[in-house]
Amino acid sequence: MVGGVLLLGVCPYPTMLLLADWLLRHSVVMCLLLHSLVLMTFCFHHAATSCSKNCYCSESSGGLKTVRCSNKRLTEIPQDIPNDTHHLYLDFNLITVVPTNAFLELPLLSELDLSHNEIAKLEPGAFRGLSSSLEFLDLSSNKLMTLQPEAFESLRARTNLSNNPWHCDCALHTQLPKLELQPVSFTGIVCHTALPEEYKGSPFLLTKDVDFCIVLKKTTDVAMLVTMFGWFTMVISYLVYYVRQNQEDARRHLEYLKSLPSRQRKSEESSTISTVV
Ligand SMILES: *[C@@H]1O[C@H](CO)[C@@H](O)[C@H](O)[C@H]1NC(C)=O
Ligand SMILES: *[C@@H]1O[C@H](CO)[C@@H](O)[C@H](O)[C@H]1NC(C)=O
Repeated sequence: MVGGVLLLGVCPYPTMLLLADWLLRHSVVMCLLLHSLVLMTFCFHHAATSCSKNCYCSESSGGLKTVRCSNKRLTEIPQDIPNDTHHLYLDFNLITVVPTNAFLELPLLSELDLSHNEIAKLEPGAFRGLSSSLEFLDLSSNKLMTLQPEAFESLRARTNLSNNPWHCDCALHTQLPKLELQPVSFTGIVCHTALPEEYKGSPFLLTKDVDFCIVLKKTTDVAMLVTMFGWFTMVISYLVYYVRQNQEDARRHLEYLKSLPSRQRKSEESSTISTVV
């Protein structure tokens, strides 16, 4: 009984110690191995693709890098796009705004696809840094209603602006010529809403003889004329009413004046005139 206890108490103890020791040493080694393995995979992966999370990167034979982040439910523009990207596809996402300096770190970017998003706002300097490299910009199928020239600065890319809910008015008409974009960029702007409303649904073209600002001026002029005419009519009717009311009195008064001696008559006449006026 005592021996058994001794055997159980003493004998397994060194064995367990040895086992623990073995495990400890090996687990440390294994842990280290695993750790370096993970690190290596990460490093190799990173070196091999150097790509943004959620995006697919590829390189053409000419060494031009393409980054595709299409249809990823992105709500904003990723900040980890490799800086040697030439073509960037961010289409079919949920991006609502292009912030200032969004692409400043991408000096080689020549094609940028932002179509089929929810973009309603381009902040000033949104495309800063792309003026010399960018050749094609796709902003089609978004939520743009108007354009701020400050967003484009000196960008000269061909720009697809079609299928946006454009509000065609004097502001858009004056802002478009301030952009340095290629003229072809302005095709595809169809007025979703317009002022004046008759241009709703028609294409907005700078070269067309429709000047939204002149139309606006005309509208204001007409409004002014109508108002002035209204006032004028009111004044005239009041005068007519006044004259009619006083005609009889005035005639009688004049007759009375005629019957007076001439000197007194003069002063009386002037007072009558002032009353009438
Ligand atoms: C990209 O960034 C790296 C590291 O900052 C830099 O060495 C390289 O010149 C950059 N490439 C371009 C095209 O700007
Ligand atoms: C512009 O975008 C529209 C809608 O996405 C498309 O149908 C059209 O082909 C595009 N135009 C150009 C020149 O890429």
